[in-house]
Amino acid sequence: MSTGTPGAIELATVSKSYGPQPVLSSASLTIERGQFVAIIGRSGSGKSTLLRLMGGLEAADSGAVRIDGTDLSALTEAQRARHRRKDLGFVFQFFNLIPTLTVGENVELPLALNEVPRAALRERTRTLLAELGLAGRDDAFPEDLSGGEQQRVAIARAVVHEPKLVLADEPTGNLDVETAGPILELLRRTCLERRATLVVATHSNEVAALAQRVISIRAGQIVDVAP
Ligand SMILES: Nc1ncnc2c1ncn2[C@@H]1O[C@H](COP(=O)(O)OP(=O)(O)OP(=O)(O)O)[C@@H](O)[C@H]1O
Ligand SMILES: [Mg+2]
Repeated sequence: MSTGTPGAIELATVSKSYGPQPVLSSASLTIERGQFVAIIGRSGSGKSTLLRLMGGLEAADSGAVRIDGTDLSALTEAQRARHRRKDLGFVFQFFNLIPTLTVGENVELPLALNEVPRAALRERTRTLLAELGLAGRDDAFPEDLSGGEQQRVAIARAVVHEPKLVLADEPTGNLDVETAGPILELLRRTCLERRATLVVATHSNEVAALAQRVISIRAGQIVDVAP
């Protein structure tokens, strides 16, 4: 159910804990469609947890996570899977590339799952990999790539199907500043062009400085720290 707030992402009194210490404790947050938001906070504060809740990869203990007004917990597992497949791009902190698929096949996967025709799928993958500085690496396997190269493949996979929500966990954590700048710019631009919402967890001040809004997780609460 929508509360009427025009929010692409809305957390309403969300609690989540794995042990005695809550990661989120009745935390609330609204992110408007098309915003670029950075999440900062010390290691272990809950940045990855927050992204997984927003992506419906994990369920809150209580409270609601709404995407475009739809409570993710009110969906069936099949509906949640469809939402992840069509509307969501997720860059995992540790990439999660499929080791038995080539670079090209990893990037094509969201398109293949959405039944995009084979020729179009190949073309989009090739273009995107070239833009990310990985031209000609389509047939390599993830284990043959450096950490930073794998990270860029993970970014390609997250945006190739043009989702309306991109959640990126430390997307440039393995990249030097010179490489990170253009990669982040590509991520920002591909989202901005389609009014897709971009939420990035980061330890980098450079990344946070590019965001329109910076939030932090402190003592289980989500607080605005900038602008
Ligand atoms: N699946 C899990 N089982 C148990 N505890 C977990 C699990 N996932 C996260 N935690 C705990 O929840 C807390 C928040 O973890 P989270 O990974 O969200 O932090 P983070 O802010 O992303 O940290 P980092 O900056 O190191 O990536 C940590 O104390 C972590 O140990
Ligand atoms: Mg994390």
